[in-house]
Amino acid sequence: MEIKISHLTKIFPNKKTGEEVRAVDDLNITIPSGKLIGLLGPSGCGKSTTLYMISGLLSPTEGQIFFGEDDVTKLAPEKRGIGLVFQNYALYPHMTVFQNIRFPLENLKRAKEVETETGEKITNYSKMSKAEMEEEVIKVAKLVQIEELLDRKPSQLSGGQQQRVAIARALVKKPRVLLLDEPLSNLDARLRLQTREEIKRIQRETGITTIFVTHDQEEAMSISDEIVVMNFGVSQQMDDPQKVYEDPTNMFVARFLGTPPINLFDGEIKNEKVYIGNEALFTKKLPDQKIKIGVRPEGFILNNLGVFSADIDFVERIGRDVSIIAKHENCLNESFRVIVDADSAIPAKKVKLNLKPNKTFLFDYDTGERIK
Ligand SMILES: Nc1ncnc2c1ncn2[C@@H]1O[C@H](COP(=O)(O)OP(=O)(O)OP(=O)(O)O)[C@@H](O)[C@H]1O
Ligand SMILES: [Mg+2]
Repeated sequence: MEIKISHLTKIFPNKKTGEEVRAVDDLNITIPSGKLIGLLGPSGCGKSTTLYMISGLLSPTEGQIFFGEDDVTKLAPEKRGIGLVFQNYALYPHMTVFQNIRFPLENLKRAKEVETETGEKITNYSKMSKAEMEEEVIKVAKLVQIEELLDRKPSQLSGGQQQRVAIARALVKKPRVLLLDEPLSNLDARLRLQTREEIKRIQRETGITTIFVTHDQEEAMSISDEIVVMNFGVSQQMDDPQKVYEDPTNMFVARFLGTPPINLFDGEIKNEKVYIGNEALFTKKLPDQKIKIGVRPEGFILNNLGVFSADIDFVERIGRDVSIIAKHENCLNESFRVIVDADSAIPAKKVKLNLKPNKTFLFDYDTGERIK
């Protein structure tokens, strides 16, 4: 099911101060059918608000939401065919796992074609039978691999198991769209890794169009077919995760993706050359201007004849890599970081470097937009 979001806007009024919050600001994205999309951005950028508008829990101030051809903007949440999973699993503590998963089916009315005595075909809405419900619960429990836990209460489960129950409960109604809001935040590091692989597998097996909200860039990049990077309620870039890393549209996106983060330097273009301080780095046929230069930590090459020189503060050896923390007077941060192979010979005090062109980005000094 393709999801199309058109000019979606949510403004929260603040009655006390009179100031309004533009939580989501003219968002336009199309989510391809059957894909897993990561919605990524810093705290408060409008991720949850976007998800709740898609689910129908919040109504937009402006804009429209389409599931395929259906305009669902004004449709009640229970009529949209969505499955929702939150950060806190919100399972019913007094019910068993089986009962928790079955719960959404209990009031569900299914359309069934039946023939009347006169041979006329009519649609009959009826509740599912106990046996039908049980069949569905077991099917979905198998999918998320919790069949052996069906008789337990939520308090007898680990966090990861509880989250799987929550996912099963969201899937049991066979939703058209699965919406997950930071579903892994309450898990420890190892379980997060495991559960995100699980979510990916379940999504592949079911083929349900899925939106996965997170502020964790690594999580988003590892799990998503495409990511949407948001800031201040505005979509900054939507692309294949690797493409967003390798080809960011602006300085915000470049900084948001990558650990350790990209290094940023004040620089300028003068006589068609890019300068940091008085060192000319490379040619760029553009008018003279102040710019910001971003270099990924892995974007440096040690070279005695390098164009870029810096003073080494310290050197960290971490397994495969060596991190050199160095200073340059034109660095926007206090210092910057270079990552090279562990077997590289590192000089003691001063280091000369060259820059890899595909790891070096130029940005407009004022707007932060990428200059190509
Ligand atoms: N009910 C509300 N009333 C007023 N402002 C709100 C309301 N809900 C959210 N906001 C504001 O809207 C903005 C976006 O909030 P939202 O919860 O969508 O952010 P988020 O990206 O999900 O952040 P996080 O990563 O912290 O969950 C924030 O500035 C928030 O304070
Ligand atoms: Mg949120």
